[in-house]
Amino acid sequence: MKNRDTFSSKIGIVAASAGSAIGLGNIWKFPYMAGKNGGSAFIIIYLIAIILMGYPLVYTEFAMGRRAKTNAVDTFGIIGNKKTWNIVGFIAVLTVFLISTFYMMITGWVIYYFYHSLTGTLYNLSSATDSVMHFKAIFSHMSSSMSIPLIFSMIAIYMTALINSMGIKEGVEKYSKIMMPVLFVLFIFLIGYSATLPGFSKSMHFLFRPDFRLVTPQVIIGAIGQAFFSLSLGMGALITYGSYIAKTENIRQIARQVTLADTIIALFSGLLIFPAVFTYNLEPTAGPSLIFISLPQVFLKMPGGRWFSLLFFLLVIVAAITSMVSMLEILITYVIEKRNWSRKTSTWMVVIATTLGGAVNIAGEGPLSYITVGGRTIFSWLDYLTNNITIPLVAVLTAIIAGWVWQTTRLNKELEIGAASSTKLDHYFNLLLKWVIPPVIVILMIALLLGAES
Ligand code: PHE
Repeated sequence: MKNRDTFSSKIGIVAASAGSAIGLGNIWKFPYMAGKNGGSAFIIIYLIAIILMGYPLVYTEFAMGRRAKTNAVDTFGIIGNKKTWNIVGFIAVLTVFLISTFYMMITGWVIYYFYHSLTGTLYNLSSATDSVMHFKAIFSHMSSSMSIPLIFSMIAIYMTALINSMGIKEGVEKYSKIMMPVLFVLFIFLIGYSATLPGFSKSMHFLFRPDFRLVTPQVIIGAIGQAFFSLSLGMGALITYGSYIAKTENIRQIARQVTLADTIIALFSGLLIFPAVFTYNLEPTAGPSLIFISLPQVFLKMPGGRWFSLLFFLLVIVAAITSMVSMLEILITYVIEKRNWSRKTSTWMVVIATTLGGAVNIAGEGPLSYITVGGRTIFSWLDYLTNNITIPLVAVLTAIIAGWVWQTTRLNKELEIGAASSTKLDHYFNLLLKWVIPPVIVILMIALLLGAES
């Protein structure tokens, strides 16, 4: 087999993996999911899911990847010692492909908003229109068009592909090490400003005082699915990055840092967005349009809001691109190893396929938005099916294959390479992998299929 690239430093692995984890899931999706599902009750379930299910799966995916040293599909066959398990990897890779087709669309929307914050046109209101109408009109003008989102999402995917085409060390690692510190600085700056708004305490209230009456199986699986999505689990991302991790690295430690960084950014995104929403009396339950219709109204009203807007959308772009890098990397690694093509050719093939899929999503939101099935557009279906079905399914099968087939003794052996021996606490996390994750997810998925509607 030919020489595989590897990450050259621990900081590079953490930056790339945190870059994968921190994305639209944290800044765009987490606040609106929390907003829609009652705020803190959702957040508490989310946090429990992160610690008890997310973290063990993060180190397991890394360990599987490093052990198998191959693409996400074949990893399952190798770890499960039977080629038929490859089908799980295949579902994972298919899932990430489907996600990347709408992820690029939303990233395109964000770039459009960044661009219009820069030129100022986003905030050019004629005095006659009220601001709600204004931003609704901008959003629907953008999302109902075919060409605007297509152009802007192609910018997103080409920027991403340029990074991937340079390889793991020279592309993914190098640019993650630049982009992640930028992201953190922007974030801290924006939070600092948000904390001075009068709505800050009200949003702390909303985010941290639970109302458990709102919790249904749908909310629980939604929170677990969101936890997995946010940690990039169940899609082969961490398996793929794991396959580029050297044997000298301590996987558990890397997993802890990535999980922590991702969780902090999700919670702080809530704190970044809700104070503004409450200060200006907007609806926290607005849904996907929260950052595109509600937030700009806030930016319009707050002093210096245009600059805030510019930095905010820049932050989201940086977060989204580092996530897209990992999505494309899963697909690229797979194509390279299956087809024996060069990295450059594989990258561009993946870009073409994703762009075509992106165009379908864009048409589904725009010119063809009158075509819905069960009231959902294509994007909405893909989001729903991946979040609630395929991601939990792959996660549960990963736990079963690693915990029961490969077995935790062998998992531990891999984890102890590059690390001191495992502790009692580590042992408990492995027990979760075997005994808790599979039944809990299976029961919830059955409850969901038996009719809990969203
Ligand atoms: N974790 C990313 C986010 O929160 C999304 C993602 C999914 C990234 C799959 C890579 C792979 O936005």
